[in-house]
Amino acid sequence: MFVRNAWYVAAAIAEIDKPLARTILNEPIVLFKSRRGEICALEDRCCHRGAPLALGDPTETGIRCGYHGMEFNREGVCTFIPGQTIIPKRARVKSYPAVAKTDYVWIWMGQADKADPATIADYPPDDQVNWPRAYDMLHLKASYVMVLENLMDLSHLSYLHKGSIGSSEEDSAKASMDVQRTPGGMKFLRIMRDADAPKNWLKRYKTKAKIDRWSEFEYVAPSIILQYSGGVNAGEYDAGVREGGHLVRTIHAITPETEKSCFYFFNKADGYSKFESPDTVRTWASTTDVFKEDAFMLEQQQLRLENFDTDKLMDINTDVARVQMMRALKERLRQEQELAQAS
Ligand code: FES
Ligand SMILES: [Fe+2]
Repeated sequence: MFVRNAWYVAAAIAEIDKPLARTILNEPIVLFKSRRGEICALEDRCCHRGAPLALGDPTETGIRCGYHGMEFNREGVCTFIPGQTIIPKRARVKSYPAVAKTDYVWIWMGQADKADPATIADYPPDDQVNWPRAYDMLHLKASYVMVLENLMDLSHLSYLHKGSIGSSEEDSAKASMDVQRTPGGMKFLRIMRDADAPKNWLKRYKTKAKIDRWSEFEYVAPSIILQYSGGVNAGEYDAGVREGGHLVRTIHAITPETEKSCFYFFNKADGYSKFESPDTVRTWASTTDVFKEDAFMLEQQQLRLENFDTDKLMDINTDVARVQMMRALKERLRQEQELAQAS
């Protein structure tokens, strides 16, 4: 079961210059822009003979099926049938609320009257001068829950990412961790004081070899994580310093495709760039490379956990945030179940 009454990232806006077929929460959806520029999300299955509408062409107000030419508006209502004047009421496909915000098309998979775009995360900052941002997406053959769990337990950085962004095992072991529930999920603050700077960071930032490294992660159920993290010279964090070294705000939006696969969208805003020359050639490719290390592990983990009772797995101390995250997610799933029963 999935939480349906939530906004999910369906695609990057740049992906829908032509109709895009994407399965979300097990439902085939076509995302596109009508010729007059409206963002549309429809069931990707024509009500005539089931052809994918993604193989058709956008019209002024919607899309034309590429098989026999029926046309649908953004509400999914058929507006034209070649060779006939009467359009039956049942000539329609399902439509979904969809809006564009900060690089992404967001989709609401639940009850349309509950969709409020004002609740879409305001992240990362829409400020390309002070917080230039870049995004990417990985399509994973792993449950979206595993990606959430991965982001909730940063102790993995010292092992899975030891060659890039990980701190030493010793520094990781002494990290302080503060976890709190929030109305929409939970959040944690993890700090490593006087820790060795990761190898990648030493190449770019002017901070010293010993740094205070912090990570603030907020989980917004069911599948958004907002990250604010960075590193400053050792001793500076407690003095309130946040700038001068690694400094990022990232949204991690993990959209289930099926129970066993997901789209992992990440959009990272870089707060350090403003301290560099405008001519500096920056690349975010390294972020994708790091997340590919996660992707590989998660896909292998998924294979091991298929047909396995996960209750047999165990928790360790570093799971404190992951456990709270799972509680928040289960609570949200329970609310969803109650809503479905009531309607
Ligand atoms: S399948 Fe779409 S018009 Fe025939
Ligand atoms: Fe990771």
